Amino acid sequence: MTTTPSHDSIRAVLWRGDRLRLLDQRRLPFVEDYLDCTTPAEVAQAIRDLVVRGAPAIGIAAAWGVVLAARRGSDALAEALPMLRAARPTAVNLMWALDRMQRAIAAGADALALESEAQAIQDEDLAANRHMGELGAALLGDGVGVLTHCNTGSLATAGFGTALGVVRAGVSSGRITQVFAGETRPWLQGARLTMWELVRDGIPATLISDSAAAHLMASGKVQWVIVGADRIAANGDTANKIGTYQLAIVARHHGAKVMVVAPWSTVDLETPTGADIEIELRDPAELLSHAGQRTVVDGAVAWNPVFDVTPASLIDAIVTERGVVSSPATSGMRHLA
Ligand code: MRU
Repeated sequence: MTTTPSHDSIRAVLWRGDRLRLLDQRRLPFVEDYLDCTTPAEVAQAIRDLVVRGAPAIGIAAAWGVVLAARRGSDALAEALPMLRAARPTAVNLMWALDRMQRAIAAGADALALESEAQAIQDEDLAANRHMGELGAALLGDGVGVLTHCNTGSLATAGFGTALGVVRAGVSSGRITQVFAGETRPWLQGARLTMWELVRDGIPATLISDSAAAHLMASGKVQWVIVGADRIAANGDTANKIGTYQLAIVARHHGAKVMVVAPWSTVDLETPTGADIEIELRDPAELLSHAGQRTVVDGAVAWNPVFDVTPASLIDAIVTERGVVSSPATSGMRHLA
């Protein structure tokens, strides 16, 4: 299966030899601005502030943060590893990338060897995404409509994307005829980032409000809900952007299927079930205002969990670069390990 070249034009995490250049995702879609990080503390801050976001991308950025630390000596390295690890709690790709860098350090890698390791993490992610795109698109029927959530594209990865990679491959092959993207309140990853990627790559797509999803699925226009993941537990329970769980419930009710697309670095076999996954709570202020403008009465309180867990029983297929797990509730993930 080939993917139209115009369907893969964006890179958000760029190593520049002495600094990490990040496409600032807080400012998209109207401002394409880059932030340069020269210290591990700046990388950790960029991850916390969502300059760079999406599970694979934050793992890759953290690996480059380790390279920046290694150039400053062993004290800086010892300080950087826990700081980067604590930047965000839910996406296990962050911990996976840091564990991999730590193994290289333990094996005696110098700054140059660590640079190669970080580059390998980034290159392997891109290759995994292309492979998953093919595997996922092959599961779709012909002429299907799909709904995706959050942003799982080039911005969230080394390139091409996970769920959005399947969308790219499915559109290129003609299997997908309609793409819907949920806006993804409160940070609007779907509206601001996914729509930007799709419009830029010439892929026709329709934005919906998050609360229009059940109405859309009742219309029969969606055969597959295709999402990414921040952590997949050993039993297949999947943490992903808040709202994914309700999409999976609605999909089951209306006979649509749910596909989770994630590289093996998102699979956490040490975590038995979704109940064991830490869900990030972010500042309630993200809900109390919009575009810097307060929208809720002073004195109001808000609760802002930014991920939820979809039980494996509501997932039809988990696509990784190692292969596809169908009905993960019955088999779990271990046999691909
Ligand atoms: O808070 P974010 O924007 O980092 O959340 C991103 C998601 O939930 C994505 O769906 C997930 O990381 C997969 S990205 C390939």
